[in-house]
Amino acid sequence: MTQHLAAPPTGTSDDAPGHRRGWWQDAVIYQVYPRSFADGDGDGMGDLDGVRRRLPHLRALGVDAVWLSPFYASPQADAGYDVADYRAIDPMFGTLHDADALIRDAHGLGLRIIVDLVPNHSSSEHDWFKRALREGPGSALRERYHFRPGKGVDGELPPNDWESIFGGPAWTRTTDPDGTPGDWYLHLFAPEQPDFNWEHPAVADEFRSILRFWLDMGVDGFRVDVAHGLVKAEGLPDIGGAGQLRLLDSSDGGTPFFDQDGVHEIYRQWRVILDEYPGDRIAVAEAWTPTVERTANYVRPDELHQAFNFQYLTTSWEAEALREVIDVSLAAMRPVGAPATWVLSNHDVTRHATRFAGPPGGPTQTREPGDRTLGLRRARAATLLMLALPGSAYLYQGEELGLPDVTDLPDEVRQDPSFFRADGQDGFRDGCRVPIPWTREGSSYGFGDGGSWLPQPDCWGALSVEAQTGDPGSTLELYRSALTVRREHPGLGAGTAVQWRDAPRGVLVFARPGFVCTVNTTDTAVRFEVPGTLLLASAPVPTEDGHTELGPDTTAWWTV
Ligand code: GLC
Repeated sequence: MTQHLAAPPTGTSDDAPGHRRGWWQDAVIYQVYPRSFADGDGDGMGDLDGVRRRLPHLRALGVDAVWLSPFYASPQADAGYDVADYRAIDPMFGTLHDADALIRDAHGLGLRIIVDLVPNHSSSEHDWFKRALREGPGSALRERYHFRPGKGVDGELPPNDWESIFGGPAWTRTTDPDGTPGDWYLHLFAPEQPDFNWEHPAVADEFRSILRFWLDMGVDGFRVDVAHGLVKAEGLPDIGGAGQLRLLDSSDGGTPFFDQDGVHEIYRQWRVILDEYPGDRIAVAEAWTPTVERTANYVRPDELHQAFNFQYLTTSWEAEALREVIDVSLAAMRPVGAPATWVLSNHDVTRHATRFAGPPGGPTQTREPGDRTLGLRRARAATLLMLALPGSAYLYQGEELGLPDVTDLPDEVRQDPSFFRADGQDGFRDGCRVPIPWTREGSSYGFGDGGSWLPQPDCWGALSVEAQTGDPGSTLELYRSALTVRREHPGLGAGTAVQWRDAPRGVLVFARPGFVCTVNTTDTAVRFEVPGTLLLASAPVPTEDGHTELGPDTTAWWTV
């Protein structure tokens, strides 16, 4: 099939260079999951010193910023998303001195640092919560969380029908200091993660102070965990039997615990603080909302700077679906003036090399390994598509190595709290959290000298940074090249629109300033007239006589 790609552009264009403002508008931000990135002290668990030592890898990769998942003092009931002290580093990750050294070294290398902030809930080991339990009913500290009497004759039933995201009821009953069963407390996640009551002024004050603490430490921004969850509907009303997890479904009005309009006032206050500091400090919302239009509310000019695009992450490898989500995302962000963001993997979902290894339309979480060759081919193509889009892109550690999810972890090593709670997310998340490989051989493939907290598969050596460095066909070198091009040609990430060109079914063709990006999501090659000079491709792209064969599941960038 021969196609001509030089049809006139469709869609709008406002890619004028003058549109770009802050560093974050087109930044590529790399997520480090500290426990699985690099282990500096050889205890089998990654740490801040390990991250600091490996910063040169991130510099060479060409990312702009590093987002670190939580490293705060925590009993680790949810891998650090259960924070006991927001101003302390967990000893397993190091010390405040290590955090300071990491921030300084990163800045010295031109990398910005974004830290995770967990404001929806604390750990049950947080001082406020421990005292609230200890002091019993009537303790003023209980008002900082959601304590309620139970229903039923003896209060033996939970106060409402909400379920935890990790499965089971979202309420746990307390025991009063005299040993009798007492009130219940709300936890949208694990029982070890009690939800704060954001109606209480002390909670808001505390988080404003925590923001300042880390801004004073020099961080460049925050990733706001469960940003859509802080405010609960008045009276904590029952949901009814219609199903609990309507994170991305607004068909019946959404949930009373997510995406309530009241959250926005909190972010307006935070924005004032961020703007007080020099140097473009930012915040990015983890907000699972029913629509990208609802997501756009979080990034209005006086709120946060970015929000993750989970609609994009959950889109399967199909041209029409991808084009639609790209258009809808860009259109939703344009009126609020925020950059669109793009993400394919993170620490909560099956890696995209595995998600795409099965039939299109498959689930976001899977334990099926699928066809690994196919998955990697699509993952590489998907990455080049993502990096050609206007806005900011998020990478998750190890995707630059083309790592698959580890789908065969034995049950006895699993740590994801949802694995231990029936009907929850089913513990899929350990598969994307296996420590990443740095070297072909050696203890834990260079992760550290003391093994690895989750077992690494045999294929890790061949996928290591060492094995891939210098191999022009490797995924690592593809990422390095793509990020080099993005840096050298700022037009790639700029603007708020792509110009679509006519393309056959299953193929996407769009223009960006000075570039054309062609994406074949089908399983057969597509022949067409070359749109320019080949710059980079996710797989070999033979060209002859002014024509090219774009192979199955392949993306190519062309300069024009
Ligand atoms: C976010 C985090 C996830 C965590 C949850 C509870 O979704 O990404 O890892 O389990 O919040 O804090």
